[in-house]
Amino acid sequence: QIVELSICECCHRHVIGVFGESLSVTEGDSVTLHSGVTEIHEDNNILWKFARKSQIAKIKKKKQIFSTYDGPDERFRDRLKLDNQTGSLTITNITTQHAGHYQLEIRGAKKSSKTFSVSVYARLSVPVISSNFSNCSSSSSSSSSSQQNCSLLCSVVNVGHVTLSWYKGNSLLSSISVSDLSISLSLPLEVEYQDKNTYSCVINNHISNQTTHLDITQLCHTCSGTAELI
Ligand SMILES: *[C@@H]1O[C@H](CO)[C@@H](O)[C@H](O)[C@H]1NC(C)=O
Ligand SMILES: *[C@@H]1O[C@H](CO)[C@@H](O)[C@H](O)[C@H]1NC(C)=O
Ligand SMILES: *[C@@H]1O[C@H](CO)[C@@H](O)[C@H](O)[C@H]1NC(C)=O
Ligand SMILES: *[C@@H]1O[C@H](CO)[C@@H](O)[C@H](O)[C@H]1NC(C)=O
Repeated sequence: QIVELSICECCHRHVIGVFGESLSVTEGDSVTLHSGVTEIHEDNNILWKFARKSQIAKIKKKKQIFSTYDGPDERFRDRLKLDNQTGSLTITNITTQHAGHYQLEIRGAKKSSKTFSVSVYARLSVPVISSNFSNCSSSSSSSSSSQQNCSLLCSVVNVGHVTLSWYKGNSLLSSISVSDLSISLSLPLEVEYQDKNTYSCVINNHISNQTTHLDITQLCHTCSGTAELI
């Protein structure tokens, strides 16, 4: 166990050395890349680059120059906020176009640089729970056992790198994951009409989640009830 731990620490440090700071953000949110200094030295210049080549911000302290640029395809237009005192850079209303590597170079008597890797995750929509009407109409003519059950489906649209799960209280009942972009994703659940447990459908990615609670009385009508509704 001790050996495992030391290997992990070693790898972790290695990763930090190569890629710098890793940040995960949800689309539409803001992220601040911290320069790590509390005040830029009078003789220092600061340069921010995106994707290793595009200059997106610069500070020349002595000349009192504080500039931000629109970057490739103007993708940073109206999105950058430069802190004139610390040199930290904030990207507002971030989109997937802004994912990637950022580099800070501090030039002066003491040179230093810092890199950031920014990952942008889609904003998750709330899962939608619906009852499977087709199943209901077919069962109305047949077995009595399925009459006691209500077939439900939890769905989300336009997702990527997410997991969709059904929970009964706090315990996981089932889940499905997609890594690629997917038009829609759904997961079925069967409950009895009289079931008093709390069920919820949760979508999550690496950084956030959205939950919809099941209201059995509202969604699970008897088949005749459903027919009336239609
Ligand atoms: C955020 O960016 C999106 C996509 O570029 C744009 O449609 C939206 O208006 C922006 N929202 C704000 C508050 O600036
Ligand atoms: C509805 O239920 C039927 C029978 O269980 C199933 O074959 C069908 O795939 C379900 N429909 C959806 C949209 O899940
Ligand atoms: C009805 O739902 C319960 C609980 O989910 C399940 O154990 C049972 O197998 C279902 N019965 C039928 C006929 O689908
Ligand atoms: C959803 O996110 C909240 C914090 O944002 C966390 O406390 C909770 O455990 C998450 N739930 C699931 C099911 O991942």
